[in-house]
Amino acid sequence: MCGIVGYIGQQSAATLLLEGLKTLEYRGYDSAGIALAPGDGAFRVTRASGKLVNLQGRLDPRDPATLGIGHTRWATHGRPTEENAHPHRSGDGKVVAVHNGIFENFLELRKELQDKGESFLSETDTEAFPVMVSHLLKGGVTFTEAFRQALGRMEGIYAIACLHADDPNRILAARSGPPLVIGLGEGENFLASDVVPLLRHTRRVIFLEDGDLAELTRNGVRIFDLQGKELHRPIQNIPYDPVAAEKGGFKHFMQKEIFEQPQAISNTLLNRLPIEASEPIPLELPFTDEDLKSLQRIHIVACGTSWHAGLVGKFLIEQLARTAVEVDYASEYRYREPVIPEGTLIIGITQSGETADTLAAMKEAASRGARTLAICNVLGSTATRTAEATILTHAGPEIGVASTKAFTTQLAVLTLLALRIGEAKGTVDPKLRAELLQGLRELPAHLEHISALEPRIIQWAQRWRDASDFLYLGRGPLYPIALEGALKLKEISYIHAEGYPAGEMKHGPIALIDKDLPVVALMPKDSHREKTLSNLQEAAARDGRILGLVTQGDRGLDGIAEDVLELPEVHPWLAPILYVLPLQLLSYHIAVLRGCDVDQPRNLAKSVTVE
Ligand code: BG6
Repeated sequence: MCGIVGYIGQQSAATLLLEGLKTLEYRGYDSAGIALAPGDGAFRVTRASGKLVNLQGRLDPRDPATLGIGHTRWATHGRPTEENAHPHRSGDGKVVAVHNGIFENFLELRKELQDKGESFLSETDTEAFPVMVSHLLKGGVTFTEAFRQALGRMEGIYAIACLHADDPNRILAARSGPPLVIGLGEGENFLASDVVPLLRHTRRVIFLEDGDLAELTRNGVRIFDLQGKELHRPIQNIPYDPVAAEKGGFKHFMQKEIFEQPQAISNTLLNRLPIEASEPIPLELPFTDEDLKSLQRIHIVACGTSWHAGLVGKFLIEQLARTAVEVDYASEYRYREPVIPEGTLIIGITQSGETADTLAAMKEAASRGARTLAICNVLGSTATRTAEATILTHAGPEIGVASTKAFTTQLAVLTLLALRIGEAKGTVDPKLRAELLQGLRELPAHLEHISALEPRIIQWAQRWRDASDFLYLGRGPLYPIALEGALKLKEISYIHAEGYPAGEMKHGPIALIDKDLPVVALMPKDSHREKTLSNLQEAAARDGRILGLVTQGDRGLDGIAEDVLELPEVHPWLAPILYVLPLQLLSYHIAVLRGCDVDQPRNLAKSVTVE
C-alpha cells in the first residue's frame, strides 16, 4: 500500500504535500516523490529512494507552485529505487500521475504503447497510465476524456491522481479499490489516501466510492462516474483531532500507542456497558434479537494481528453464545469456496478497514448469502461503508505499523459482541455476564498497573536482545496471545519467534529448546494453569529459559522460571487483553535496543490494499 496526496489552492504546495506525506509514511516508506505544477507548461518532479527525509532534502520549500501531487511508496512492481518512485510521467513530460494499487495488464499495455512509439523509464506498472493519457491526448481528446479512457484500459485496482502540464487548474483523481478521500477548503481543495493528512486543513471530507472520478479545482470539487455522469457524494465531518496523530512526547508511535491502551479501552467501552444489569448490551448493531438468535454459524476473516483477535473472538463467542465460529486468514478464505449455510454471519476484523484480502473475503461471503459485520478502527473506511453493520473500536489513529491498541480494543469489542449474541440466545449465565461486565470496567486500571512494569520488561529486553529465536506458549484464550507476542517480535525486531499452544510443545517445538532459547510463558490462574505448569516443567527440564507471566501471588514458577512478572487477577476470558501488553513492550524494547525502525519496520505497511 502507498500514500497519495494532492493539493490545489493558494498555499505553497511543496510544504503542504510533504507534511501530508509525513502523516502517510506508515503506509509505505521505500521511496517518495512530488510533482509541482508552476503553470508554465512543465512540471518540477522531485523523487528520492528511501525515507521521506531523503525527498525533503531535495525539495525547495519556497517553491511558489500552488498545485501538486505526491506519493510515498510500498513497492509491488519494480524495486524501491528513485527511477521507480512516483510520480511517473509520460515520455513528453506533460502528464504525471501517482498511484496506489496494481495495474495487472501493464506489460500488455506497455508493449502496445511502445509499438506506437511511446517510451518507458521505469519497471513499474503505474507508468503505463500517464503514458496512456499522454498518448490519448495526442489524439486530440480533452484531459478529462483521456483520463477516463485510460482508466478504461487499466485492469486492476487503483487510487490515482493525475495532472496535465497544459491544464494547471485541475487535479483529476479516481478510485477503484484502495481508498481516496477529498478534503474541502475555501479556495483550495485537498486529496489523500486517508483523512489524517487532511485534518490539519479541514474536517469536511468526501470519501470516494469505487468507480468515482473526481475533478478538483480551486473553486470546487465535482464527482463523476466513469461514463461521465455527475454524481453526488455526502460530505462528512471527521471528529478526530490532528494532535492524536502526533507522538505526544514518546520516542515512537508504537510506545505511545501501547501506553494509550487504558484510554483506548475506556473510549471503546463508552456507552456500551449496560447501566442496569437487566439492560441488554447497548451495541449499535442493526441486528434484532431474532437475527442474533437465528445465527447458526459465524465466520471471522482477518489478517495479521486482527486474525489473532479473531482467534480470541472464536473462544469467547463459542463459550458465551454457544455458536460455532470458524476463523480464517482472509487471503485463504476468499479462494476456498467457503460453505455458507443459512444463518451465517461473516465478521471482518480490520484496524484500517482497507486491507484488500479482508474486504474481498467479506465480499465473497456476502455474495454467498452471509450477513456482514465489520469490527474496524477507521470511520469512513471501505469496510465500514461496505459491511451491513460496523462496530467501531475507538482506539484513535494507530500510526505504528505493528498494531497494539487496536488489538486490545478489538478484544474488548469481541467480548461485548459474544455477550450480546449470548444474551439474545439466552446462553449466558447472568452471574458470569455481570462478572465479565465488571471485569471490563476494571480493565483500564489494570492496564495502567501493567504499563508500570515497563522497567522490569526493559531488563528482559536487555537480557535477551541478541537471542536468535523466541518461543511463546499459552493455552485456551492465551494461545492467540502467544501467537501475537511472537508476531510483534518478528514484525519489529526481525528475531525469529514462534507462538504455540503449550500443550502442543511436546509434539515438535520442544526440539528447539535449549539454554539459549527464551520461552515466554503465559500462565494466568485459570482452568489451564496446571497443564501449562507441567508443560513448563518439561521445557525447564531441557534448560529452557522461561520468562513467566502469572497471576499476582502465584509462586508456581519459582525455581522453574528465570523470571516472573505478576499481573492483576481478572476473569480468565479477559486475561488476553492484559497479557498482551507486556509482550508488546518486550518486543518494543528489544527492537529499540537492536536499533530497529520500530514505527516503520522493513518490508511492512500499516495495511495492505493490494492482494
Ligand atoms: C499488516 C499490518 O499490513 O496488516 C498489521 O502490518 C495488521 O499490523 C495487518 O495487523 C492487518 O491490518 P488490518 O488493518 O486489516 O487490521
